[in-house]
Amino acid sequence: MIFDLTGKVALVTGTSRGLGQYFARALASAGADLILTSRDKATLEPFEAEIRALGRRTVSVSLDVTNEASIKSAVAEAEEAFGKIDILVNNAGMNIRKPALDVTWDDWNRILDTNLRGSFFVAQAVAKGMIERGYGRIINIGSVTAVAGYAGLGPYGASRGGIRQLTMSLADDWGKDGVTVNCLAPGWFKTAQNKIMYENQEWVEYLCDRIPLKRPGRPDDLDGPVVFLASEESRYVTGQTLLVDGGISGGATRALPSPKA
Ligand SMILES: NC(=O)c1ccc[n+]([C@@H]2O[C@H](COP(=O)([O-])OP(=O)(O)OC[C@H]3O[C@@H](n4cnc5c(N)ncnc54)[C@H](OP(=O)(O)O)[C@@H]3O)[C@@H](O)[C@H]2O)c1
Repeated sequence: MIFDLTGKVALVTGTSRGLGQYFARALASAGADLILTSRDKATLEPFEAEIRALGRRTVSVSLDVTNEASIKSAVAEAEEAFGKIDILVNNAGMNIRKPALDVTWDDWNRILDTNLRGSFFVAQAVAKGMIERGYGRIINIGSVTAVAGYAGLGPYGASRGGIRQLTMSLADDWGKDGVTVNCLAPGWFKTAQNKIMYENQEWVEYLCDRIPLKRPGRPDDLDGPVVFLASEESRYVTGQTLLVDGGISGGATRALPSPKA
């Protein structure tokens, strides 16, 4: 069977809500045991039960990716629980959406410290064991904002552009050790982080018009891509950014009059 993750252990950061839960569910459905994380691990209990109901083992650990000690202890606890981590999905992240002129020093630090520094140091902590065992799949969650400019998303886009770059460098660092590093970059998906935008119908219509596949992403659109990158079948793929964005990063501008015009 291809894309079978039976016997593999996956750590997905930020599984208290949103895309992280979809990634964890998809990996568990493909056979992986799961380590779940939140800054408040008590919130993970219902989701833990859901993963167990799929027939997988799971443990929850506390993790704040802006805190170095928390990263080290979370990874140690996770390795202790299942003896190894084969797959890391670096999903924990945040955003503060503001016009560039209103961004504060603190906003910048919070976004970059969480998304970019956090992803690097979680990858570093997990990679040590992967390198010792000679096997690993690291999937950094990026974004379409890594490859295009979007007003109001400067610091966030910079953090995601940094993740795309980091993916290439870490792939080169650890490829010789059997560890692949790729970036899975979602386009526009409705989740807790951005649901307020999707309440504006005019904006949703504008967005869908720009997307070649004419709809925002559904979180389960990411199931296949994450399982592929986590699996043995992606063994010769590393340093890549896989955009799952309905085609919006193609950047097409309508070359014919709008059908509505
Ligand atoms: N939604 C989209 O359209 C989209 C598109 C491209 C990329 N992304 C990226 O995909 C990831 C998931 O997005 P989402 O929309 O599902 O976000 P979300 O609903 O806001 O969930 C974010 C997750 O990250 C965790 N997190 C936040 N800050 C953390 C910290 N300092 N330490 C540890 N965990 C932290 C949260 O856990 P706790 O609060 O429980 O600690 C939560 O589980 C994010 O990195 C996001 O930037 C999203």
